Amino acid sequence: MSPNGKPLLKVEGLVKKFGGFRALNGVNIDVGEEQIVGLAGPNGSGKTTLINVISGVYRPDGGSIVFDGESIYKLPSHKIVHRGINRTFQVPKPLAGLTVWENVKLAAVYGARNGDRQQIIREALAVVELDNVKNAVSAGLTFAQQKLLGLATALATKPKLLLVDEIAAGLSQKELAWIAEMLLRIRKTGVAMIVVEHHLGFVDTLTSDVVVMNAGANLFRGSIQEAARNDEVVEVFLGR
Ligand SMILES: Nc1ncnc2c1ncn2[C@@H]1O[C@H](COP(=O)(O)OP(=O)(O)O)[C@@H](O)[C@H]1O
Ligand SMILES: [Mg+2]
Repeated sequence: MSPNGKPLLKVEGLVKKFGGFRALNGVNIDVGEEQIVGLAGPNGSGKTTLINVISGVYRPDGGSIVFDGESIYKLPSHKIVHRGINRTFQVPKPLAGLTVWENVKLAAVYGARNGDRQQIIREALAVVELDNVKNAVSAGLTFAQQKLLGLATALATKPKLLLVDEIAAGLSQKELAWIAEMLLRIRKTGVAMIVVEHHLGFVDTLTSDVVVMNAGANLFRGSIQEAARNDEVVEVFLGR
């Protein structure tokens, strides 16, 4: 919560339609300052769509989105980035021909934050531990490194809220522990997060505050322990 007791992000009744299909059908979620909220749910439940709508990649069809006390509903993505929200992509998409440094620099320019740009780029690379490969061409990075680069480019726009979409997918246990530690470090620099994960195990290492979605709507909010005891949550995860 902010000093005035209001959440940093408040989403209410959010609707997104694709043709006649409601991928989001009245989603509510709020995130406090420096809070990490885990967002889980089965494939196709609307998690990525929610990230896409909050970050302005898709325009919503109903509801409200208030960030830092102001509506960002239907703002284009560059304005949302400037307000202080950025995101990572489920499938990392660095500009393959550019170096790590150049990719992060583009984001820093796009984010157009005041301050020392070189310093912002250096900090973003340091926090994800990619400083040692800053001059490498992005195409040559491992999958895990590409995910970290996605994180660094998002951080280079200096977000107050970071939306992290399935960063754990396809990584080893060791890489997962490493990334969890990194996300916790990023939170300590004053960044709130929605961390989308298909499975709850990774989320459990980051936060005890979880939202579970199903079929475009919230099914549950509470702790992971409560989620594991909730019949509806168990049913959507295990298909019983
Ligand atoms: N651009 C799109 N056009 C049409 N349908 C989409 C589009 N993006 C997502 N969907 C549909 O919306 C639903 C939710 O998808 P998504 O948000 O990707 O789920 P999740 O991230 O939870 O797996 C799915 O049924 C998916 O097929
Ligand atoms: Mg997804």
